[in-house]
Amino acid sequence: MSAKNHKQWKIPAFEQGDYVDSRIYSDQNIFDEEQDKIFKQVWIPVCHESELPEAYDFRTTSIAKEPIIVVRGKDNEVRAFLNVCPHRGMRIERRTAGSFSDGQPSGNPKHMTCMFHAWQFDMKGNCVDIPRAKEGYQDRLTKENVGLRRLRCEVRFGGFVWVTLNDKVEQDLEAWADGAFECIRSAIDTEPLEVFHYHKAIIDSNYKLWHDTNSEFYHDYMHYHNRVTGFNDEYFARTNKGFKNGHVNVNSFTVQYGEFELGESREDLSFPGFPPNQWYMIDLFPGMNFNLRGSALRCDIVTPLGPNKVMIEFRGLGLKSDSQKDRKTRIEHHNSIWGPFGRNLHEDLLGITGQGASMQTGSEPRRILHGRHENNLIHDEIGMRHFYDEWSKWMGRNPSDPMDEQRKVLAAE
Ligand code: FES
Ligand SMILES: [Fe+2]
Repeated sequence: MSAKNHKQWKIPAFEQGDYVDSRIYSDQNIFDEEQDKIFKQVWIPVCHESELPEAYDFRTTSIAKEPIIVVRGKDNEVRAFLNVCPHRGMRIERRTAGSFSDGQPSGNPKHMTCMFHAWQFDMKGNCVDIPRAKEGYQDRLTKENVGLRRLRCEVRFGGFVWVTLNDKVEQDLEAWADGAFECIRSAIDTEPLEVFHYHKAIIDSNYKLWHDTNSEFYHDYMHYHNRVTGFNDEYFARTNKGFKNGHVNVNSFTVQYGEFELGESREDLSFPGFPPNQWYMIDLFPGMNFNLRGSALRCDIVTPLGPNKVMIEFRGLGLKSDSQKDRKTRIEHHNSIWGPFGRNLHEDLLGITGQGASMQTGSEPRRILHGRHENNLIHDEIGMRHFYDEWSKWMGRNPSDPMDEQRKVLAAE
């Protein structure tokens, strides 16, 4: 008999660390807590420096619902601020990206201007003008007393812009990543990279389910492309490696792109020092992914919007020095697998959308398994277990028993 009633449907032989309780993906309180205890505390990649190529270029985004603006100064430095006016809390810039170089209908060139009462700021976040300051504030407040809220910001690991809301963050970015990038470091840090592809998707699913999908390769059965270009001895010998702070990487193998219909080798467009047709993957806590596959680097940045809603921004990157022809080929390679209509990406999104459908807020709690142990090999689910060990530290909750029910039951006995 294989179908189970409610009580039987628990898979009792599994240790706690081999499953999580589905409420970590659906509970509003846990979601809110994650924003405070994790997303407001750690380093988050927000964009790539090539998206702000010129002085006065900017991008806006958010971390844990706080609006963020990243700008390039005249001195070429990239800085990050809360995109919030110190006057009455208006979001200063509403565009997602652009330049302050030219004036706006209610803003001078080369300044960030809050359109509400026209306070103006320079690219270093200094307030440079308050209209009729003396008349209203006399000597109680001058432009020197106010400014934008500056955030710690680093450009690193292939030129990504990283920001943290935590002024007292314990580890700098290099220490935080703990060597997870070393496997692709020379490939992405030898010469400048450039974003050639951007799209985003808002999916009814939890952000951790996306990260789980990036962490586990057992679901390669879902990917026709990966089955035909991958399932060989080298693929099954790939290993997962855990790093401090919940990060994991997966080492490489040689992808046989020619096995896919119209597929072609990516060896002519590899990255500096990167052997042809290799594929490394880096999963960074709390939910970011860097994926170097042959001729393109993909980066996924998650912005959790609710327990069952996540925005995922997908970027594809090549070398800034690419000729027009090489860039076109790189884009074709990238999009054939990872574009919005590529072979793989929508399959992954379907996977987590199906999980999201069964894990909406208020859904019956159930166990979600990640109990495959295969000596850290490719279909071992060590990546997820490593992630949830870290999650547990930040959250002070056991992901297998997030409401502490089992402990309470034992205590009552
Ligand atoms: S809220 Fe920005 S100038 Fe008033
Ligand atoms: Fe996948």
